[in-house]
Amino acid sequence: MRGKFITFEGIEGSGKSSQIRLLAEALKARGIKYILTREPGGPPISERIRALLLDPQNKEMSSETELLLYCASRAQHTSEVILPALASGVHVICDRYYDSSYAYQGAARSLDKEIIRILTAFSTYSTDPDRTFLLDLPVEQSLSRIQDRELDRLEQESLSFHVKVREQYLSIAKDNASRYLVLNGLEDINILHRQILAAVFKLIGAAQ
Ligand code: TYD
Repeated sequence: MRGKFITFEGIEGSGKSSQIRLLAEALKARGIKYILTREPGGPPISERIRALLLDPQNKEMSSETELLLYCASRAQHTSEVILPALASGVHVICDRYYDSSYAYQGAARSLDKEIIRILTAFSTYSTDPDRTFLLDLPVEQSLSRIQDRELDRLEQESLSFHVKVREQYLSIAKDNASRYLVLNGLEDINILHRQILAAVFKLIGAAQ
């Protein structure tokens, strides 16, 4: 049976990484086969593109170049890692996927949504996640959570940039209600984990 494709989305500091780690530990403890991966990144070619995208020194990067690089990273990641895993019955948990391009490059960078749609179909081989978790929280709280780290190129963007990203995510979730589960990112970490685990077990048909 084909594996399930599970993605996590959210603004910076939304708690995605902690929830992904807890989910992975829970699947591992039950002997469920999965891989954990991320965007931009994954296989070596995509990780090299990631370094270009996140380097704070690349201030000259145009929004168009940025979109194409995210899509290039995604095409390699999808063909080399995601599709083979799903085909062999392994579940894929991915930290961000194409919804990030609609939120960041579409809403926040104001690039044409139709172009993103065409590039997305091309670079994903028309692959859609089976379930997407959106960890939602106000931008002020998310930015205060990340203020102590060294910020990458996207994290250094303004408050209004991140507000646009958040609003776009909520709108995508509304338009794709059957795929999305929107969670309150301010909720207790263990409560969130239980909600995510319940949804994942339902999706993969496993008992809790
Ligand atoms: P990362 O360090 O992985 O951030 P996070 O822990 O918040 O996921 O950096 C990924 C950055 O790339 C993040 O700022 C969101 C951005 N991004 C886009 O702008 N477009 C995309 O298509 C993707 C996948 C990510």
